[in-house]
Amino acid sequence: MPKAQLQYLADELQKLREQGLYQKLRILEGEQLPVARFDGRQVINLSSNNYLGLNTHPKLKQRALEAIQKYGVGSGAVRTIAGTMSIHMELEEKIAQFKRTEAAVVFQSGFTANAGTVSAILGREDVIISDELNHASIIDGCRLSRAEIRRFPHKDVEACEKILKEIAGHKGHKLLITDGVFSMDGDIAPLPQLVKLAEEYGCIMMIDDAHASGVLGRNGRGSVDHFNLHGRVDIQVGTLSKAIGALGGYVCSTRDAIEFLYHRARPFLFSTSHPPSVAATCIAAFELLDEEPELVEQLWANTRFFKEGLARLGFNTGVSETPITPIIVGDAALAHQFSRELFEAGVFAQGIGYPTVPVGKARLRTIVTATHTQEKLSRALEILESIAKKLKIL
Ligand SMILES: Cc1ncc(COP(=O)(O)O)c(C=O)c1O
Repeated sequence: MPKAQLQYLADELQKLREQGLYQKLRILEGEQLPVARFDGRQVINLSSNNYLGLNTHPKLKQRALEAIQKYGVGSGAVRTIAGTMSIHMELEEKIAQFKRTEAAVVFQSGFTANAGTVSAILGREDVIISDELNHASIIDGCRLSRAEIRRFPHKDVEACEKILKEIAGHKGHKLLITDGVFSMDGDIAPLPQLVKLAEEYGCIMMIDDAHASGVLGRNGRGSVDHFNLHGRVDIQVGTLSKAIGALGGYVCSTRDAIEFLYHRARPFLFSTSHPPSVAATCIAAFELLDEEPELVEQLWANTRFFKEGLARLGFNTGVSETPITPIIVGDAALAHQFSRELFEAGVFAQGIGYPTVPVGKARLRTIVTATHTQEKLSRALEILESIAKKLKIL
């Protein structure tokens, strides 16, 4: 029986059901593979962020097991008390080397890396200039910082400059922040232009490369490498949960900025550090990126193949330039129905509606990985076509 004081939550859920927006969690039975078993059904999996297939890579599994044997299963404390293990430091050095920055710090997730960093480095007297489609973790970090937030229309460099001119006399710090690859549309930020503006107007330049690391740049080094902007982006965030295959987030910057975060970033200070097995897994993943650049090449070959197929069928895939390819249908209830029927037919592509994307821009979000075969991608395209025609989306 619902408790009277929680009845309003049950009412809200009921509304979602009536609007066709209620979403059941899909349960993955087994490993996160390109063909995987969810809710008892074998499906072609177009929904994971496992870009390079590292979630299940034998080398990473082996390193995790060895770390458990050597260090145990947990770190036992927050980083600033007794929870900084040598393997955490080793991972941070590895990341800094990979990203070609002075230093790096690892957080428990990409979410806490963004939210914890923005809220730590800025305060009430500062201004944040933020792309309107930046990730929720950036938005939460901006709110937590209490700085003034000025949003510019998506990728609109001119509008961004207009804001910078308006606040030119501002006394506080200014942070210009953007996702490197936008997580719902798969497009790439105009980083060279934004970096130029940041330099011209004296802003801290920060980028969230959650979907660019392991995907863009040489060996998957991310957007800064992709655009050859080394040394010109002050703070780079990345995640260990997507292409890297495990869990966590990281921030790369100067040694001083990183040490400042040790002292002021609340998730770093007040939440326990990673199990050593996760750190070991991530070190192995960065080694693999250096040793096997063909993983990233295969990801892009599959991406081109799948995108060409979607375009041939006439789907609206928006402005995507990366392995994240939305199939935009507009209405949220229709997107969820499309997703449900696809699932029954053997393809898992998550339906996404408001508030994750704007009203009227509901979609399926698809991601191919390096480990999909082109045969399975062709089969997915056939199924997408037949269900879309049935629902009059095509
Ligand atoms: C752009 C972006 N930034 C940050 C995150 C958060 O990363 P994590 O899942 O590691 O918390 C995500 C993913 O969910 C994301 O898409």
